[in-house]
Amino acid sequence: MSAIQQLEELKTTALAELDEIADLRRLASWRVRYLGKKSRLTGILRGLAGLSLEEKKAVGAAANKLKLTLEEGFEQWQQALRDKRVLASTEKEGIDISLPGRFQPAGRLHPVTQVTAEINDIFISMGFEVVEGPEVELDYYNFEALNIPREHPARDTMATLWVDHGTDGGQQPMLLRTHTSPMQIRVMEKVPPPLRIVVPGKVYRYEATDATHIPMFYQIEGLAVDKGITMADLKGTLYEFARRFFGEDRRVRFRCDYFPFVEPGAEMAIECAVCRGSGCRLCGSSGWIEILGAGMVHPWVLERVNIDPEIYSGFAFGMGIERIPMLRYGVDDIRLFYGSDLRFLRQF
Ligand code: DAH
Repeated sequence: MSAIQQLEELKTTALAELDEIADLRRLASWRVRYLGKKSRLTGILRGLAGLSLEEKKAVGAAANKLKLTLEEGFEQWQQALRDKRVLASTEKEGIDISLPGRFQPAGRLHPVTQVTAEINDIFISMGFEVVEGPEVELDYYNFEALNIPREHPARDTMATLWVDHGTDGGQQPMLLRTHTSPMQIRVMEKVPPPLRIVVPGKVYRYEATDATHIPMFYQIEGLAVDKGITMADLKGTLYEFARRFFGEDRRVRFRCDYFPFVEPGAEMAIECAVCRGSGCRLCGSSGWIEILGAGMVHPWVLERVNIDPEIYSGFAFGMGIERIPMLRYGVDDIRLFYGSDLRFLRQF
């Protein structure tokens, strides 16, 4: 029998057998038998080398055509058997397992949560530890111990939501913390230096709401106390943060500022994302956006928690968190973060 005849015969038997197959397991063994390495078809294709040029052309073409036919037959039959199986189980169980699944909405982290985690990670990599503190705070920690006694004008800059004025019965005045700085005192009271912490959390101010003010927002506080800490450590740490968070090419500005609990005090701004320093609406045409207050921990603050300022020194900083995603994503209204509008929140 010539090779061509053999191929013809092979085709007839293979296709006839295929027609009889009713399950996927037998279909798989059919494929091995007719298309596998030890199949006759593979044998014929391998034997081509020994044929004359003319035979090679004719037999080669026919063998390849048969291979394609068998492969196609396999695919089609496989699909048909699968469809049949779906249909059978649908009839038996009364459900259509070929229907697409129901859409399950996936939750995501709030943009402020995402940014807080990112900021934490940067400081963790520089050796800081993350701690949290109470939102209902004593006057002592929020003001008094931070060098802001009663009648100090700095109290006016942070309109306070009082929980208890503490007027009667020797009760201590209580409030919703106006900043995360009170945690500096709480930590230094308990933990002896050296220490390096960051404190993310909510703070509250009694303020009218507008595009840049809301009565509850987030801050992150930083504190490092050790022997020999200088302003250079403060600057180096904050510059490294800015470089990592905003990128190498963003300019940073560091200037003097006043806060009662640091000496000297400073303020850090970064180049406006929108105008890159030339001045626009977002940055109030200054080209810069302030992101944090900072400074060297005031010796009086250290003394109050029994840390000797002759031996130890420290730096501190406090940063508003919402500003950072606002700057990064060009959000021009802080209220959007807390308006629960999913169309806004789903973008992050
Ligand atoms: N607590 C200040 C505020 O809310 C920010 C601040 C300034 C924090 C200077 C600091 C600091 O730790 O050193 O306005």
